[in-house]
Formats: sequence, C-alpha cells, structure tokens
Amino acid sequence: MNMKHLFAFYIFFSPLFLLGQEKVRLIPEPVSYKQQEGYYELPTTLYFVNESGDSAVSRIATMFGERIARPTGYLYRVSDTDTAKEEESIRLIINHKVEDELGEEGYRLLVNHEGIAVKANTAKGIFYGLQTLVQLLPPEVEHSAGMLLGQWRLPLVDIVDYPRFAWRGMMLDVARHFFTKEEVKQFIDNMVKYKFNMLHLHLTDDQGWRIEIKSLPKLTEVGAWRGQREGKWGTFSKPTAEEPKSYGGFYTQDDIRELVQYAAERYVSILPEIDVPGHSMAAVASYPGLSCTPGDYQVAVDGSFMIWEKGGFYGTIDNTLCPANPLVYDVLDKVFTEVAELFPFPYIHMGGDECYKGFWEKSEACKALMAQEGMKDMDALQSYFVKRVDSILRSKGKQTMGWDEILEGGLAEGASVMSWRGMKGGVEAARMGHKVVMSPSDFVYVDLYQGDPLAEPPTYSMLRLRKTYSFDPVPEGIDPSLILGGQCNLWTEQIPHMRAAEYMLWPRAFAVAESVWSPQERKDWNSFVDKVEHHFERFDHAKIKYALSMYDPIVKARKVPNGTLEVVLEKEIESLDIYYSFDETFPDNFYPQYYMPLSVPQEASNLKVVSYRHGKQVGKIINLPIAELKKRAGMK
Ligand code: ACM
Repeated sequence: MNMKHLFAFYIFFSPLFLLGQEKVRLIPEPVSYKQQEGYYELPTTLYFVNESGDSAVSRIATMFGERIARPTGYLYRVSDTDTAKEEESIRLIINHKVEDELGEEGYRLLVNHEGIAVKANTAKGIFYGLQTLVQLLPPEVEHSAGMLLGQWRLPLVDIVDYPRFAWRGMMLDVARHFFTKEEVKQFIDNMVKYKFNMLHLHLTDDQGWRIEIKSLPKLTEVGAWRGQREGKWGTFSKPTAEEPKSYGGFYTQDDIRELVQYAAERYVSILPEIDVPGHSMAAVASYPGLSCTPGDYQVAVDGSFMIWEKGGFYGTIDNTLCPANPLVYDVLDKVFTEVAELFPFPYIHMGGDECYKGFWEKSEACKALMAQEGMKDMDALQSYFVKRVDSILRSKGKQTMGWDEILEGGLAEGASVMSWRGMKGGVEAARMGHKVVMSPSDFVYVDLYQGDPLAEPPTYSMLRLRKTYSFDPVPEGIDPSLILGGQCNLWTEQIPHMRAAEYMLWPRAFAVAESVWSPQERKDWNSFVDKVEHHFERFDHAKIKYALSMYDPIVKARKVPNGTLEVVLEKEIESLDIYYSFDETFPDNFYPQYYMPLSVPQEASNLKVVSYRHGKQVGKIINLPIAELKKRAGMK
C-alpha cells in the first residue's frame, strides 16, 4: 500500500468519515466551544424541561418547540417538572447569577449522549442558547415544513458564549420604501437568528412619514403617500400636486404596539428615528407651515432635489424644518409625546443628518433668532435646534440619539451619537464622554455595492464583504465602555422591496453579527467564508435571498506607461479560479485562466469574467465593457 492508498484508507475508515461528522459552523462565532466525536439524535418528542419554572422560559421553549416541530414533524412538550427521560429532554436552567462570565445574555449549551442542557442567568440567555441549538441542526431545519430527514442529529458540544456588545443593531429605512408590518416581523425573525438585538426603524424622510401621530393626522394622510414611480431612483419625473398619491403606507399605532411586542418577545428593542431638521419633505408636505420657505410641497419621489457634489451638497427645494418657528417645536413636542409612549426603549433617534442650511441663511426668522441668541453661524443654529429637541425628548423621559452631525456647533449634554461618516464622529463624542454607537458607512452601510457595479443593482459606493468583516466598533485609544456597540444600516432608496433588501443584507450582516457579538480574536476570514456558505444553504431552505458577490472578482483598470489599458482581477476568497474572454463568448473553466494583469487586445469590446472553485462555477458571468474600464482608468 503506497502513501496515496494509505491516505484513502485512513479517510475512508476514520471515525470522522464513518459518522459523517459535520463541522460546527456557527454565526456569530461563539466565545468558546469543545466538540466531541459523535452525535445526539433528536428524540421524536422533544421535552423542554423548564427547571426554574420561569414563565419567560416556558414561552421561549414553546416558540422553539414550534419552530423545530415544523420542519421535523416531531412533537414537543414544555413542562416545569422533569417527567421525561433525561436523555430525551432539553433542560433549560436559569441560575440568576448575572455577575458571572455569561452576564445577562450569555449561555452555556451542552449536548451529549445524555441529552441537551441550556444554562443561563436569564431567559434572554436561554433564548440565545436555543438559537445556537437550531444552528447545530442540519440546514433542513430552516425549511418551513415537511422536510422529512430520517434523523435530526446534533454534534456533541460544550459551548460557552456571550456577546461583546450590548447594542447589536440593524437599521431598516422604511421611509424611502415602505415595508409592511409582516415584513418587519420577518426581518426581526432573521435578525435574531444571528443574535442581533436592536432594530432601528428610520421612520421618516423626504419620501415618506411612516408612523401614525394621532394629534397630527396629516403626517400620514398626506406624508405617507407619494406618486408611483418605477425605474431608476434619481431619474424620476418631478412629483406634481395633481397626480394620484398611491404609493406608500404607514404603521398605525396599533401596528407599532404589535411590532414592539413582537420584537420584545424575541429580545429585540426598537429604536424609533424621526429624522429632523433635514430629510423632512414628507412632514413639510403635510404641514407646509413647518418650513422657513413658503411653497407648495410634495412628498418626494426620489432624492433628485438634493445635489451631491464632491465635498458637499445643496438642496434645490427646502426639505428642512424651520429652527426659528415656534410651531416646529410644538409639533415635535406632539410627535415625541406619542412616539415616547409607543416605544419603551430609553432612546429616541432624532436624525440630524445632512441638513442643508442654505434656506435658513435666507430666512428672516432665522436671522432674527440668531441675532437674539447671539449665534454666529449655521452650525450654532443647528445646535440650538438639536438642544431644543433634546430637551423635548428629556421631558418625555427619553435620551437623545442622533447622527454625528449633531456634534456640529456643540452637542447637547447627555445626547449620544451614532457615528456614520466613518468613526471620527464617534471618537470625538467618546472623547467628550458621550456614549456612541458605531455605524460607519465605510464598514457597515449594507446599501452599498458588494461587488462590481457592472454586476450589481445601482447604488453609490463600494463595500465588499471582507471590509465589513474587518469592522471593529472600538477605535484605538477610546474607552470601550463608551461604545455601546455597532449596527449595519440598510438605506432603501434603491431597495424597493424585501427580496432586494435581503440581497443587500446577507451575507454582509453575517459579518456584522460577528463584529458585534464575537471576541475579536475568534474572528477568522477563511473560516467565516466556509460558514457563510453553510448558512447560504440554510437560507435556501428558509427561502431568504442573499448575494453571491463575494465570489466575483474585484476589477481594477489602469493605464500602463505605453498608453494601453490593463485590467487587474483581485479575489476576496483565495481559493477561487477566474476565467475570462475577450472574444464575446461566455467563459467557463476551459477558457484562459487569470494569473496576471491582462493587456486588453486592441479590438476588444468586452471582457467577460467568471469565478470557479474546485471545478464548479460559483460566481456569475460578468460583462465588463472596455469603454467602461477605460473610464475607470481615466482614459478616453
Ligand atoms: C446618513 O447616512 N445620512 C445617516
């Protein structure tokens, strides 16, 4: 027997092969785990034994029992007494010692031949332990019903796990496009599988006001609806007063209560955002008196009234609330009274981003207020507004959160900052002792391109998976106790429905989940990619959409000294093979393989590329017009 045969013999008869031992592929990566060879087979009746009798644990056990019963067809029972045989039970044990390493959200999950036990200090910890338990089951467990596997087996593990941050968020922009209550629930269901616990709802913007305010009915009668457009955002015809306002929607207060409760049952808090003083066209269209600039306002159909230039932006229509108008503060008092009653979370987000102040500069009322208060510039006027809103929020028993622009001109005492223009706003706020949530656009804006723009839905900047995976919410030299955590943000200008939202979110949200839950030293790119692929399989069963863009090459074009175009194809995943063509036919793995920068043939019109791994196509065929590549290289 030569070495090759010996190797084959070893593989074939090794216990690992015989048992088909699966790797544990958990997202987010737990703090620690030990795996033993072998399996525990799920009994056909699952006995969840709630050892503490805690009612929240019974509720959670019922939720998970239903979830596992659907795809397995197994029965489940939840009881406070241990009448089941030990080896058939899932024991849920709470010991209420929150000071130990598991803390408030951690758990220990033991699976051995004697059964399953989840231990935690709180019901919340039990909830996360059971999420991990579901991830240990085969991907078919994500199927909605009727996947009759012969056996449902779990690897034998001892997992100790707890989060790095208490704030593990996702922002969903429900203003640019409306997402129904049922869709938001589905969004929450997906969040909690990956141990996110914060849903930030961006409830208002230029294109829609999405929350019923009973004392101000026009905010939703008018502000929740706009003219229907379908096509490319930013190219739409201007809205008119005459056209039917048929596109949009809003959450009634009952809807909001239902969502808050649904989220709370899954240990998710909802952070409401009312974005003021900028991004307020829908509010102004509802109550034109809120603007410094008289006019006939329509709810925006896209963002083309704002002009973005290198180093700044300006508005062609005034989409701001007037900081010098007492009515604005009366209206905001009413809005925040109702918002504060609906959302139990201690923070309310007041937005504060991207406020164009050119119309304030022209406003006589603003000039008079500035003279009266001794304010020297527009930043001071914005800071005045922020401080007034902060005092309204405090009067409702809430704390203020805002985008990092609320630092400009001086931050309100006690306000917290959500840093989006990189980490620098967060660093500045933390240095002043304010609390910070990190959501820098260059790491966690999951509305950006995740692959080459020629192969992705339109958006405005690049954020590949590997960059998201490198997100660390704590910058060097900053007191980590001031960093509440991090979140990814899903702006939906160019995301018209939930399928498109899922495509943008996954797998980048997996990367964010590890950045906000797992210890830094447990993160590893290669093993993460392996896990992502496993979770894709789970999503196939769950019918959740995701992007395969991590397989697509990073395309760089440059002009070389002899004046010709050269194309460089880089990889996010090392083990990929890239094949290409210039001859207008569609490449496969029998085509030339990319090894070094490509000189583009004189007459070629298009470069086509595709990625393979181990002989199997994994990326899409991407067509790259040479004219486009020349533009990238700064050539004519
Ligand atoms: C933002 O992205 N404008 C907060």
